[in-house]
Amino acid sequence: MSTNPDFTNPDKSFDYNEELPTDRAQTWILLETYSKIPLNQIETHLKDIRQKTWNVFPYSCIGHWLFLDCVITSLPEYPAIIARVKAGDVLLDAGCAFGYVLRQMAVDGAPATNLIGVDIRQEFLDLGFELFQDKGFEGRFIAADLVNVDPLLNSLLDNLAEIAGTVDIIHAAALFHLFGWDDQVSIGVRFVELFKPGANALVIGRQIADLEPLDPVEHATQGRGWYRHNMRTWQMLWDVVGERTGTRWKTTGVVSEKRGLKDVPGPKAGMSFAVYKT
Ligand SMILES: C[S@@+](CC[C@H](N)C(=O)[O-])C[C@H]1O[C@@H](n2cnc3c(N)ncnc32)[C@H](O)[C@@H]1O
Repeated sequence: MSTNPDFTNPDKSFDYNEELPTDRAQTWILLETYSKIPLNQIETHLKDIRQKTWNVFPYSCIGHWLFLDCVITSLPEYPAIIARVKAGDVLLDAGCAFGYVLRQMAVDGAPATNLIGVDIRQEFLDLGFELFQDKGFEGRFIAADLVNVDPLLNSLLDNLAEIAGTVDIIHAAALFHLFGWDDQVSIGVRFVELFKPGANALVIGRQIADLEPLDPVEHATQGRGWYRHNMRTWQMLWDVVGERTGTRWKTTGVVSEKRGLKDVPGPKAGMSFAVYKT
């Protein structure tokens, strides 16, 4: 895995906000109404779970509370996605961490039995049940590596094998940007394996972007780890995934300056995207 080691910073010097974000509406409503956590206990509860998660692995999105940004609900595709899952389509949240998106979708009417979360860290999946206090949640969670396939197996024999060819929609938030170009291609190829062959396949999500990314070859030559996209390079990536899998993909989305990341080193842009199989 080619995650840039600088992306995380256990000493909390720049990757960690002690205080919760001021925009609290959506999470607080979910925790109060769905998880039945008294309003005056939510802050302590969140800080407790966030600390446990940080101790497992100090992702910047954990330190900055970005896992509380359930951006999918504000994407223009969201109402249609809920309608599709209600009608039987299966949605997979790739790199789901706590599975916040899946809980929110269930509250918004999606049958939980049509929802799958995949994350490489079993601890994050377990902490999701602690965060949302819902041992009975019927969504399915699988601990699996979406980048590297066990060399002793092949991609259709590992622990994602049982869901290969069963998925219609994949949500991927803050996942691709953790990796270099080649690993991102591997993730895209993996997604194609997970989609139903005849699915109206859609990948939606968000990630850190770069307003002017280097050409991927130059980027690799410079030995940089993670690759961040603008819309041009994002389409290039999906063209490569298409070539590798005999499929075709059309990307849409918006790249914008991300003021909230001002105190964070590195690129300060974000993108939300949709990738359609054509
Ligand atoms: C930055 S967090 C984003 C979490 C969530 N999607 C969000 O938007 O808040 C990235 C997540 O991807 C997971 N992850 C990292 N590498 C992975 C891999 N190779 N396969 C599956 N999940 C991975 C991490 O464990 C983590 O939960």
